[in-house]
Amino acid sequence: MRIVEVEKVSFSYDGKFYVLEDISFSVEKGDFVGIVGPNGAGKSTLFKLILGFLKPNKGSIKLFGKKVEDFKDWEKVGYVPQRINVEHTFPGKVIELLSSVSHNKKNIEFVVEYLKIKDILNKQFTKLSGGQQQRVLLALALSTNPDLLLLDEPSTGLDVHALTHFTNILIDLNTNHGKTILMISHDIGSLLNHANKILCINRKVCYFGPPENAIEYIEEAFGLKGVLHGIS
Ligand SMILES: Nc1ncnc2c1ncn2[C@@H]1O[C@H](COP(=O)(O)OP(=O)(O)O)[C@@H](O)[C@H]1O
Ligand SMILES: [Mg+2]
Repeated sequence: MRIVEVEKVSFSYDGKFYVLEDISFSVEKGDFVGIVGPNGAGKSTLFKLILGFLKPNKGSIKLFGKKVEDFKDWEKVGYVPQRINVEHTFPGKVIELLSSVSHNKKNIEFVVEYLKIKDILNKQFTKLSGGQQQRVLLALALSTNPDLLLLDEPSTGLDVHALTHFTNILIDLNTNHGKTILMISHDIGSLLNHANKILCINRKVCYFGPPENAIEYIEEAFGLKGVLHGIS
């Protein structure tokens, strides 16, 4: 089943310059898609289009077979925004945040247990460490038990220990819980190891396919000819 279909999508914020141009790709159930590209390439914008926050100027987007403008099952979609955007906008305690996003007690109990955040439920989000904040953001995204997860640079700022833990959770969600994952990350080595498809974006799609053939396209997009060889 196709979970996400992006067809010939172009988008401009100011009506003059296209930050995304003629983007097409599709995501099947169970895919783990790693999204890479230089800063300003349009990756976060792509997520906002998929989430219906922004509307394409051209082209169409479907979620679970439905046009995004008609899509209503938003509890099927979990989103972890770039942490830098939320750090100062979540004043509440962790438990308050969770109950404001999901009213399903069972789901909340599951994510609290699954992500081991019981001991921080009564702490304020802004006072948590980077790794703890990241776990809470993932808990919020998972609290409606979504089939599709969109993660925007979730590993930025995590130390090696937190990063390994976070990566293992994502692999478990993908392989044992059937979650379809789209993850934007600069950790190219990790994506090449764990994703089954790589989407390289630099205003246009520079590569979409299996990780095995992705390196030379990624190097070209970043202007790093030859640098990444042997990274995975
Ligand atoms: N709200 C906005 N208004 C105008 N321009 C924006 C806005 N958000 C992002 N941009 C611009 O769109 C381009 C793509 O940004 P973004 O999608 O955040 O890239 P990435 O996530 O790949 O770093 C950049 O040139 C950025 O400056
Ligand atoms: Mg971004």
